[in-house]
Amino acid sequence: MTTSKSAEQGPNPLDVSQVMSRVDAALTAIAMAVSTAELKQVRNDHAGDKSPLALANRAIGKLEPGQRKHAGQLIGQARASVNAALAARQGELNAAELETALQAERVDVTLPIEMHPVGVLHPITALIDDMCDVFIAMGWEVAEGPELESEWLNFDSLNIGPDHPARGLSDTLFIEPASDHKLLRTQTSPVQMRTMLSHEPPVYIVSPGKVYRADEYDATHLPVFHQLEGLVVDKGITMGHLKGTLDHLAHAMFGEVRTRLRPHYFPFTEPSAEMDLECFVCHGESIDNPDLDCRTCKSEGWIEWGGCGVVNPRVLAAAGIDTDVYSGFAFGMGVDRTVMFRNNASDLRDFVEGDIRFPRSLQGGAR
Ligand code: DAH
Repeated sequence: MTTSKSAEQGPNPLDVSQVMSRVDAALTAIAMAVSTAELKQVRNDHAGDKSPLALANRAIGKLEPGQRKHAGQLIGQARASVNAALAARQGELNAAELETALQAERVDVTLPIEMHPVGVLHPITALIDDMCDVFIAMGWEVAEGPELESEWLNFDSLNIGPDHPARGLSDTLFIEPASDHKLLRTQTSPVQMRTMLSHEPPVYIVSPGKVYRADEYDATHLPVFHQLEGLVVDKGITMGHLKGTLDHLAHAMFGEVRTRLRPHYFPFTEPSAEMDLECFVCHGESIDNPDLDCRTCKSEGWIEWGGCGVVNPRVLAAAGIDTDVYSGFAFGMGVDRTVMFRNNASDLRDFVEGDIRFPRSLQGGAR
């Protein structure tokens, strides 16, 4: 296809048939070029400085003056028609190459991507975060304590004497050797004492975490579960502050729900109470109603949520706090239980058995 050889000598600028045959050769080569790279070569051969038509053009200057006009017209037209064909072909090939590139580089954004399921927070973690947020918004701090705890902090300092049933081996997991008096904390309450020993009042803390008891492993019991402890120590703190705080928490967690404080006993609070929530399912209508059997509240109309009370002055005194100046309230809620009745989980074992479908199956969804 290349004509570099014929480029060595140009046609006679006065010889119409010679010039036309160069033009024909050029047009044929142009038509046959199938890429812009080939066309570049063709341009060089047939329209470049050393092409036959360029040489013929240069030869015009050596002609007799009378012949120049005719030769100039002939060569000029010849070169113009070659250049026009080159430009047209260039346009076609550019478009074709662009089209090919677009096809080759095409990305089909409608193709389904491979769906990797995204993990979610464990429902316990998510609820602890939500509960802590309620308190952080009120300016409280989150305090944490160890799960391997001293017997004194878990029991004695909280006014749980050596004869208290919670000390029995049936409940508490002691760590050997017994002479070390170490145990897996049975409650988050020792964080109260740790905080009071290390901070001057005022104290406003919540403390979420794992607790351990030598319990059965069944639908409603786990040997490891979670509590959220709260403690306030300040001047002039009353049971009213406790009630207001827990009502605020209940409403943040459950929306408009009725609550009640039911008298109870805890060694570390006096007076003590259990906080109950009105049953979300039957709203109390199952009480004494033989036709309505409510599984959520066992037809009692109320669901027990957690323990609370005014901090026993003996506990404040054990932490070296002046009980004439300061008083406090405390509470401890079961987190696992809260997920159960808030998100309608029926079996606590699902919380620990690791089936990743579980969090998504909960009412209220997973995060
Ligand atoms: N620690 C108690 C328990 O494990 C819960 C509790 C009750 C915590 C009353 C408190 C409280 O701080 O004031 O059952």
